[in-house]
Amino acid sequence: MSTPKRYTITAALPYTNGPVHIGHLAGVYVPADIYARYQRLKGNDVAYICGSDEHGVPITLKAKKEGITPQQVVDKYHGIIKKAFEDFEISFDNYSRTSAKIHHETASDVFKKLYDEGKFIEETNQQLYDEKANQFLADRFVVGTCPKCGFEESYGDQCENCGTSHNATDLINPKSAITGNTPSLKETKHWFLPLDQYQDWLKEWIVEGHAKDWKPNVLGQVKSWIDDGLRPRAVTRDLDWGIPVPVKGAEGKVLYVWFDAPIGYISSTKEWAAREGKDWEPYWKDKDTKLVHFIGKDNIVFHCIIFPVMLKAEGSYILPENVPANEFLNLENNKISTSKNWAVWLHEYLEDFPDKQDVLRYALTANAPENKDNNFTWKDFQARNNNELVAIFGNFINRVLVLTHKYYDGIVPQAGKLSDVDEDTLMMLKKYPQIISKSIERYRFREALMELMNLARLGNKYLADEEPWKQIKENPERVKTIMFVALQIATGLSILSEPFLPFTSNKLKSILRLNEPAYRRGRERGTNDVVTSSDNEIATNSTSSRNDIVIPTERGTSDEESLWNKISLAKTLLPSGHQIGKVELLFAKIEDAEVQKQLDKLEATKQANKTEASGVEPQKGVIEFDDFTKLDIRVGTILEAVKVPKTKKLLQLKVDVGIDIRTIVSGIAESFSVEEIIGQKVTVLCNLAPRTLRGVESEGMILMADTPDGKLAFIEPENSEIKNGEQIS
Ligand code: 2FM
Ligand code: ZN
Repeated sequence: MSTPKRYTITAALPYTNGPVHIGHLAGVYVPADIYARYQRLKGNDVAYICGSDEHGVPITLKAKKEGITPQQVVDKYHGIIKKAFEDFEISFDNYSRTSAKIHHETASDVFKKLYDEGKFIEETNQQLYDEKANQFLADRFVVGTCPKCGFEESYGDQCENCGTSHNATDLINPKSAITGNTPSLKETKHWFLPLDQYQDWLKEWIVEGHAKDWKPNVLGQVKSWIDDGLRPRAVTRDLDWGIPVPVKGAEGKVLYVWFDAPIGYISSTKEWAAREGKDWEPYWKDKDTKLVHFIGKDNIVFHCIIFPVMLKAEGSYILPENVPANEFLNLENNKISTSKNWAVWLHEYLEDFPDKQDVLRYALTANAPENKDNNFTWKDFQARNNNELVAIFGNFINRVLVLTHKYYDGIVPQAGKLSDVDEDTLMMLKKYPQIISKSIERYRFREALMELMNLARLGNKYLADEEPWKQIKENPERVKTIMFVALQIATGLSILSEPFLPFTSNKLKSILRLNEPAYRRGRERGTNDVVTSSDNEIATNSTSSRNDIVIPTERGTSDEESLWNKISLAKTLLPSGHQIGKVELLFAKIEDAEVQKQLDKLEATKQANKTEASGVEPQKGVIEFDDFTKLDIRVGTILEAVKVPKTKKLLQLKVDVGIDIRTIVSGIAESFSVEEIIGQKVTVLCNLAPRTLRGVESEGMILMADTPDGKLAFIEPENSEIKNGEQIS
């Protein structure tokens, strides 16, 4: 009997400068959630840890753009992100934030220990400085050409194109992201982590030690950095947003966000342990604990090189067992972009598909960017739902439930003698936990999900071959056996689907009246009774008041006793005589119109981006025809013009508008001289209520066009035959 293992599973702390989108979900949070849920189902001891990454330049830039404080930015997005994760039932044991006191303390302590032990290099050198903004430029405050790949919009600390991590002074043609100015160089003191001193150790640990079990995309990146030669890396910054550097002589400096953020995993674990009355240390210091970091590919260098070097230098922590980084997810063939609003935001998805969290989880897992960048399309999303979830999984379950009610009033029938096909089918069912485990444990979640669907396919094929609906009249005894077998598969699906489709799994368990104890999430834990069943049945014929079956499982059970493995070991999953609940559909078809609505939304984004790029203002709100007919617009001619005293912009004009000659005050003095506009044909809004400007009453408005260079241009009729007073309609 194997004992439970301890897992510390981390998911990258999202930057709190915007909401989370499907790329985040597909790349990090869903795979990590599948893994964490699976390990819990296996009876292992899991801490699934995350939180908001609230420091760093992206937050400061967002605050500058929106004219609010960084604190206001993080407070706003921390709430939105946390809620989106909850709504999708991402089963974090703890979701913290790096502004938390415990995090400031933990990160400061790590820095101080490394500092006291002389693990940093202290160096005063020249850094990029924006004279106009009066600040040093590091990380995303500076953009320039990547020295490695030539990408022209590389950030100061990392190139998003080739993934290289560098120092801001390495950039070619650097420009300030705040003012657009070319920075100068200014001296400043910083503390550097000497990555070069750990290069040989890293090579031995990762490139040689994990050549077989880490993903090729991760190993490839690590190897390339090591081959290029590692250099000392500054872990402090001259910024005012972040954790103050906790040593003397570092006033006005903060920790580099990539120094503090990964320590956030540790502080979040501490916060969780304190709340749960546990000891946090084994989760980070016991060598038998398996630490797994789920991240996107842009985070590989930080999790495979910098953070491990920090942990190694500190000395008392374990190192990650694996870092299964994913590639990127594109959306309808374009890179997901927060600034271009090219994304499916989770909170917006839920407005349109309020009860379809599992559909998105499914589509993203089935199409996960595990080995290469992948593409999300709404058509694929619809097809995954309609052709797979509805037609395969949903169809099987529906047939089982409907027939059980039709033939036996919802009571699981007694099986007769099993045929070879029955035996084979039940044998296959018992193999599925192992088959799916094998894929999950190699971080192949697409493959694992496909296997889950193969179990539903097995159920469909079994029913289609055995045709209970045809046999019910002549051979009702045989049908009892068929339905008994089909119900076992349905029960297996309800358990094995939990890591991938938690909402569906819960719904199905509730329809089958399997009342599982709350092993899934911290907040539910301990709220239900755990009833131990006999070894031969996963579920006993319950005597509980709701007549539910109680599935025995608990965190920290042995491997053999885990719910996952019971499917293989138990003789029966759902016993004869058990009453199941009412029939409910697990999935509903997604119609073309729903998908079209999403495509239209993206098209509108594309148009808005084009308009923005061309410098043309977007269209104003729609008006009714009646509103338009109220406007009296006529052709006129400027007869006289004088400057309005003590103003830069205003000219006092006499304009012949056909009806009369009237005075109009117009703000065109910066675009035209008085002389050049005499005799100019113009378009005039005549019935605008008179207004007094600088003591002069203006009786209308000259309509002008704004040109891209910021000047004004007259709108004049090309046809010289058009007379003053002619109406424009
Ligand atoms: O890339 C990002 O969104 C970072 N905020 C991830 C941080 S992961 C960890 F180290 F905190
Ligand atoms: Zn590059």
